[in-house]
Amino acid sequence: MLRIEFGDQSLECPLVVGTENEKAIDISQLRSKTGYITLDDSFGNTGSCKSGITYIDGDKGVLRYRGYAIEELAEKSSFIETAYLIIYGNLPNKSEYDLFSDLLTSQEILHEGFRHHFEGFPNNAHPMAMLSAMINAMGCYQSDLYEVEDGVSRFDKSAAQLISQVRTIAAAAYKMSIGQPMVYPYPEKSYAENFLQMMFSLPNKHYEVDPDILHALTMFLILHVDHEQNCSTSTVRVVASSGANLHASCSAGVCALWGRLHGGANQGVVEMFNKIKNSDYTVKEFIEKVKKKEGGAKLMGFGHRVYKNFDPRAQILQKAAHKLLDKAGKQDELLEIAQELAESALHDEYFIERKLYPNVDFYSGIILQAIGIPLNMFTVMFAIGRMPGWIAHWKEINENSKQRIYRPRQIYVGETIRKYIPVDKR
Ligand code: ACO
Repeated sequence: MLRIEFGDQSLECPLVVGTENEKAIDISQLRSKTGYITLDDSFGNTGSCKSGITYIDGDKGVLRYRGYAIEELAEKSSFIETAYLIIYGNLPNKSEYDLFSDLLTSQEILHEGFRHHFEGFPNNAHPMAMLSAMINAMGCYQSDLYEVEDGVSRFDKSAAQLISQVRTIAAAAYKMSIGQPMVYPYPEKSYAENFLQMMFSLPNKHYEVDPDILHALTMFLILHVDHEQNCSTSTVRVVASSGANLHASCSAGVCALWGRLHGGANQGVVEMFNKIKNSDYTVKEFIEKVKKKEGGAKLMGFGHRVYKNFDPRAQILQKAAHKLLDKAGKQDELLEIAQELAESALHDEYFIERKLYPNVDFYSGIILQAIGIPLNMFTVMFAIGRMPGWIAHWKEINENSKQRIYRPRQIYVGETIRKYIPVDKR
């Protein structure tokens, strides 16, 4: 119990302790009992919910999905198995896995109506804009999914459809943007292989998938599945709390992810590497510009609100990037720039003092580039991986019978009341 005292009033606030000993002060009675609110700009100290999906210990660099260590899942699991785990809470047994897999396959083809939607976008439309619009549009084709059919609930079908079709939409958006015909899904292939085929096959040329590329992509997707209350997931939860449907909520998540400080950082990182590569300044000079905050410059792919030691996802991806490029016998200039940037920053007082370390986006772009994914599709790849996490959070909100609409307060600092004086508009 924590007692808050002010003047002759006091309020006793219960302490809340999570299963991993995370501690919070429950201030839910604060405003009704005292008239005060808490002010926590950008929610750095605010727990917005209790959640049983993902656990992070930012000081120790720990990330677990439903209790399973990310390192173990990244090495041993498949994307579909991890998606099931995150949505339904436990690893699937064989028959649950097969059922889920079949459901995904049965949902993978887009309605023909989508061709017209795609044609409405200009050629240079950003694929993230297309993705968010298309996910919301998917909801319009869903009337039959709002019933239980053959023992499969509307939620199960909608969730499977989102996970399956986000990949079909992403590949179709890419094909449209380069003027090639869309490639239909390959139902017999694994999730990641199916995606690569849709991206890179041509009507007269089947794409041969390299097993190392497939492994790296699967790992990339697993590492992006969930990350507790990050900006896009919080957005999904806010939208879901109003009663919005799964598609509308996840479409909002795509928009939040797009920003450069969040998922858009993976594109920003490779652009930064290329800028350094093509400029006449050294890595050290670039770091100095960042430290002086010249023109708001940041070291993209560095820093995190929660991780203050290391981001375990970045460590896994760093190793994977080396492995992929070593095997291909490639001397990758971008990976060298990344190494030099990381070395310089990790030994620099500015970054040490502020506890700034490489985050997931620092190495993921190098892997995506090695796979052959175009730069403007990098954040789309993040969205494909994050879809199961958004779905799990939407489900958690909807299963909470006591869920209230998200509605923060504010401290108003604008004008006080003033008199309206009409302007002569003639
Ligand atoms: N480069 C240089 N300085 C940085 C960086 C960076 N990447 N990140 C933080 N800082 C500095 C800030 O300028 C601030 O300095 P100050 O004390 O002199 O004012 C200090 O470190 C604290 O940073 P905040 O902005 O308060 O950190 P916050 O928790 O709000 O932001 C964020 C976290 C957005 C990730 C930030 O570190 C950043 O912008 N990083 C670069 C973009 C990026 O890589 N985003 C991906 C994050 S992972 C993900 O979303 C998937």
